[in-house]
Amino acid sequence: MTKTEKIINIAAKRGFFFPSGEIYNPIAGFWTYGHLGTLMKHNWEDLWRTYFLGLDTNYYEIEDVNIMNKKVFESSGHLENFKDPLVECKKCHNRCRADQLIEDEVDISTDGLKEKEMDELIKKHKIKCPNCGASEFGDVKWFNMMFDLKVGATGNDIVYLRPETAQSPFVAFKKEFLALREKIPMGLAVIGKAFRNEISPRQGFFRLREFTQAELQIFFDSDKIDECLEWNKVKNYKLRLYLVNNRKTKVITEIKCDEANKKLKLPKFYVYHLAKIQQFYFEILKIPKDKFRFRELSGEERAFYNKIHFDIELDLETLTGFKEVAGLHFRGDHDLSGHQKGSKEKHEVTIDGKRFIPNVLELSFGVDRNIWALMDLSFKEEKERTLFKFSPVISPIQVAVFPLLRKDKLPEKAKEIFNLLKEEFSTSYDETGSIGKMYRRMEEIGCNAMITVDHQTLKDNTVTLRDRDSMKQIRVKIKDLSSVLKKFFDNEKIEKLGKSVK
Ligand code: GAP
Repeated sequence: MTKTEKIINIAAKRGFFFPSGEIYNPIAGFWTYGHLGTLMKHNWEDLWRTYFLGLDTNYYEIEDVNIMNKKVFESSGHLENFKDPLVECKKCHNRCRADQLIEDEVDISTDGLKEKEMDELIKKHKIKCPNCGASEFGDVKWFNMMFDLKVGATGNDIVYLRPETAQSPFVAFKKEFLALREKIPMGLAVIGKAFRNEISPRQGFFRLREFTQAELQIFFDSDKIDECLEWNKVKNYKLRLYLVNNRKTKVITEIKCDEANKKLKLPKFYVYHLAKIQQFYFEILKIPKDKFRFRELSGEERAFYNKIHFDIELDLETLTGFKEVAGLHFRGDHDLSGHQKGSKEKHEVTIDGKRFIPNVLELSFGVDRNIWALMDLSFKEEKERTLFKFSPVISPIQVAVFPLLRKDKLPEKAKEIFNLLKEEFSTSYDETGSIGKMYRRMEEIGCNAMITVDHQTLKDNTVTLRDRDSMKQIRVKIKDLSSVLKKFFDNEKIEKLGKSVK
């Protein structure tokens, strides 16, 4: 079994996620989060929300609908530009992405290629259909990835499922700018669903047709893009950049923010947010440094609306290398100018006597991809157990409480402790197996600390506390459990927190 299959098996068996509507023939690219996956996803979203909305007092979250007016996407450019190259096998009629088909067979980048150039490459390299092996394809055509729907009884009005959450803050900009007393920078975040009719969502849980994005749109004055109030706090902080110029050597450049600004000519406001994103991955999500990089995108690779674009990539064994989980996009005034033109409503603002259309810096994260990445990076196989080494801030269950036996009033005492801890920690109670089996089950879902109630508990009000990673156990007084757990989750070694027991 591959690592991907092992993770997907555990995810489905234990309630992280599984293909949606599995009792029927599931449709690729749609997944259900089970109870553990939902807890973990909420943890990730809460961390993101607290961290990024905390960057400025004028950053807020809004919530919007998923179905939007066609005019939104005429103005945003998605109707015209949001497309992938599609090719169909003449024999089995399998449809796939032409660029992926070529890149899987030939070691070249297809970025910026026209339909005809892709047709020629497919013919020249005698590329075969991944489904039936035939090598005759129709012409490459562009395929718009938005899902359309009909609204109302006449069925005449076409609407679209939003392909990015970003459009919600853009169309809400005018209202929120007034409500927030006409100040910029102003940040509007959305954590919500986005929908893309991916041609071949073949990367399991990574390329989905319905997924969650966490995006923050920062509206600011582009004349101030090289200014940053917090610059001194980050200027000596080193970023891990994979620049376009490094592609041949595959080297990651470690460069101070100040140098990124002076030598690479990246504006301070942009660099500051690179630093904050990197710190989110290192300090909050505890991603190992060597697994992280920012990948610079060239002009041909960037989305149609972006002027500066670095993707956040994590090195994932299940996907054979660095893969995109988020991006930092300088979108210029593309969005507000587009909506001003399309809606005929003025989107200009006047600040200190200056009239202008705000520009947008976008922090865009795929929540599901981040969840998959954390599962990939935390998955460990040891001699007698399989486990996820999740950090306590992300674990769906932080603490598990078990009675050693299902008799002698041990379950009653264990439930008392469970009720005590569940107010403060994500806690579960289990009594359905031998203690060894219960440990293995909890380790397999990444639970950080396991508490066992035994006969000694009834005598002296102490329990054993077991560390998932080292499997070491200590004896702790029930009245101290909460403070000991807090220190333990704060990275204190278990042996420093109590008397070791076998
Ligand atoms: N608003 C900008 C935007 O949507 P994007 O690079 O197309 O930019 C942002 O998407 C993030 O959304 C990506 O970095 C990725 O994490 C996630 N994402 C995009 N397409 C996805 C898909 N088909 N399945 C899962 N996540 C996806």
